[in-house]
Amino acid sequence: MPFYPEELIEEVRSRNDIVAVIGARVKLTRKGANYFGCCPFHSEKTPSFSVSPSKQMYYCFGCGAGGNVVTFLMNYENYNFTEAMEHLASRVGITLPKREMTSQEKERESLRSRLLQLNGEAAKFYFYQLRGEAGREGLAYLSRRGLSRETLQKFGLGFAPNSYDALYRYLKEKGFSDEELKVGGLARFKEQSGAHDYFRNRVMFPIMDRNSRVIGFGGRVMEPIEPKYLNSPETPLFDKGGNLYALHLARATRRPYLLLCEGYMDVISVHQAGIDAAVASLGTALTGGHALLLKRYTDQVILCYDSDAAGIKAAMRAIPILREAGLGIRVLDLKPYKDPDEFIVHEGTEAFEKRIEDALNFFLYQSDVWKSGYNLQNPAERTAYYKKLAEELVTFEDPLERDNYLSAVCERQEISRERMEGLVGRIGNGRISSERPESVDLSEEALSLRARPERDEGLLTASQVLLNWAATGPASPEKLRETIREEDFPLQLYREIFRYILQEKGQREVLLPATVLNRYLESEEDSKLAAAIFSRSFSESASPAQKSRVLSESLQRLRKAYLQKELQTAGDAKSMQALITEMSRIRSVTIGENLV
Ligand code: GTP
Ligand code: MN
Repeated sequence: MPFYPEELIEEVRSRNDIVAVIGARVKLTRKGANYFGCCPFHSEKTPSFSVSPSKQMYYCFGCGAGGNVVTFLMNYENYNFTEAMEHLASRVGITLPKREMTSQEKERESLRSRLLQLNGEAAKFYFYQLRGEAGREGLAYLSRRGLSRETLQKFGLGFAPNSYDALYRYLKEKGFSDEELKVGGLARFKEQSGAHDYFRNRVMFPIMDRNSRVIGFGGRVMEPIEPKYLNSPETPLFDKGGNLYALHLARATRRPYLLLCEGYMDVISVHQAGIDAAVASLGTALTGGHALLLKRYTDQVILCYDSDAAGIKAAMRAIPILREAGLGIRVLDLKPYKDPDEFIVHEGTEAFEKRIEDALNFFLYQSDVWKSGYNLQNPAERTAYYKKLAEELVTFEDPLERDNYLSAVCERQEISRERMEGLVGRIGNGRISSERPESVDLSEEALSLRARPERDEGLLTASQVLLNWAATGPASPEKLRETIREEDFPLQLYREIFRYILQEKGQREVLLPATVLNRYLESEEDSKLAAAIFSRSFSESASPAQKSRVLSESLQRLRKAYLQKELQTAGDAKSMQALITEMSRIRSVTIGENLV
C-alpha cells in the first residue's frame, strides 16, 4: 500500500472534483443529480457510465467498472497509484512528501539506475554498430527480412560486432565496472581469457520496459545455426515474467485488443504492417504475471502463436492462464504459414487484418484441438469427445456464457444441442450430488453457493445492499453492530469494509463513498467490488417499509448462506440439530423501519 498517510490521500482526493477530472476525458451529460456518459472501460453506444458528484464516485452499470477519482486515473491513464496521486496533487497545487527510502532500498534503486544507464549505453553502441562498417552484414540481413529503415529506428535494432570484447571496452571507457557489466548480463568473465562480450556477431533486439527504457536484449544469429536466439539472462532489471516485448508501443494502441505473438520478428512485422497492437512474451512461456500485465492494457487478447505443433501446445497452455486473468481470448489462424512474420511477408497487411477479424473464439479453438485427439468414426471415442466438451462447458460459471458456448460449439462440431445439454446437465449435477450430505435438505441457492461460495451473485448483491445502507444510512455504529455480524459477509473484502465503516462512522459527519474507496486503490478487482456497494442506493421514492423489507431479506439471505456453510462442516448430529434450529429462526431477523 502507499506510504502516504490516509489523511493526505483523502485531502488530494477531496480537492479534486471527480466530475471535473472525468469530464475532461469523457463527454458527460447531466441527468438529475448525476452525470452520464459512454463508458471508457468497455465499448458501448448508449451511456451507462455514471458519475456522482455527491458520492464523488463513478460506476458503470454495463461493465461494473467503478471507483473514485484516483482509481479512475489509474484505469483510464494506466497510471500506477503513485502516478495518479502525483497528477492529482499537482492539479490542485499540493506538494507530496518524498518518502525516505531505507538504505537497502536506496542500494537497490541505485543499482537499478546504474543498470538502466548501462543498458541504455549498450543499446546505443549496438545501434551505431549496425549503421557502421562492422554492421554491414547485419543490416543486409535485416533488410533481407523486409525491415524498413523506419522500423529499424522504431525498434532501436542494432548489431553486436564479431569481436571478443568490443562492447566491454566501450562500456569500461564509459566508466562502468566489471561487476556492473557482469550483473547486467552483458559480459562474461573467464579465468584464462578475461572479459568476453555476452553477445557477439548477432543482430540485436533491445527489450524495453513499458516506459521505453532498455532492460535487456535478444540477439539473433544470421546463419541457420543453433541457438538461433540468445536472450539476456535475468538481471535485477530484466524480469522476463514481468515484461512483454513492445508493450511500450502497443500500450498506446487504439485497438480494443492486443496481439500476443511468440517472437521478436513477429511483433516487428506486425507493427511494420501498421498494426500497432502486437507484443510477445520474451522467449519464455506465458506466465500469470504476463496475463495480469496484459489485463492492465486491454480486455481482449488475440493469440498469434506459430501454427506448428509447438505453437498449438503453447496456445493451449496460454488459454487457461489468460482466462484466469479475466481476459477475452481469440486465436488467429495463420495457416498455411508458420508465423505472423511469414504470413505478412507473403500475404500482406489486408489479409492479416482479415485473419484478425476472423480469429476464432478460444473455446471453439480448443474444441478443434481436442477433436484431433479422438477418432470420431468410432462411436465410443466420439462419446468420449463429447464428454470432454461437456466437462469443459461445466467450468463456465455464468449460465448465460455457458449456454452461448454450448450453442457455438454444437454448431461448429455438428453435435445435437439436446445431446450436449443432456451431457452438461448430467456432469454438472454429478459434481454437486457427490458432495451432498445425506441428511440435510439443501436449497438450490446453497448448491450454487457451494460451487463458488464467495462469488454467488445474489449474495454479493445482498452484501452490497447492506453495506451501502451501513455506510450511508442513519443507523449508528452501535446499532449496526447489534444488527449485522462481520461474518455475515461471505467475501473477505466486504468484512473488512464493514469493519472500516463501523470504525469511521462514529468519527465522521458523513462517510463519503469515495473515502471508503481510498482504501482499495491498488487492486482493480477490489476497487470494483467496493464501488459496486455504492451503486446500491435506494431510489428516492422508496418508503421506509420497502427499504426495511429489502434490507431484512438481504440479511436473511446472508444468514442462511452462512448457516448452510456451517451445516456442511458440522461434524456431529447435535451441532447439526442446533444449526437447523437456528435456520428456522432466521425469518425473524429483521431490520426495522426506524433504522432506515
Ligand atoms: P525468426 O526465425 O527470426 O523469424 O524467429 P521467430 O521470431 O520466428 O522465432 P521462433 O518462432 O523460432 O521463436 C520464437 C521466440 O522464441 C523467439 O523470438 C525467441 O524469443 C525465442 N527463441 C527462439 N529460438 C531460441 C533459442 O534458440 N534460444 C532462446 N533462448 N530463445 C529462442
Ligand atoms: Mn519467424
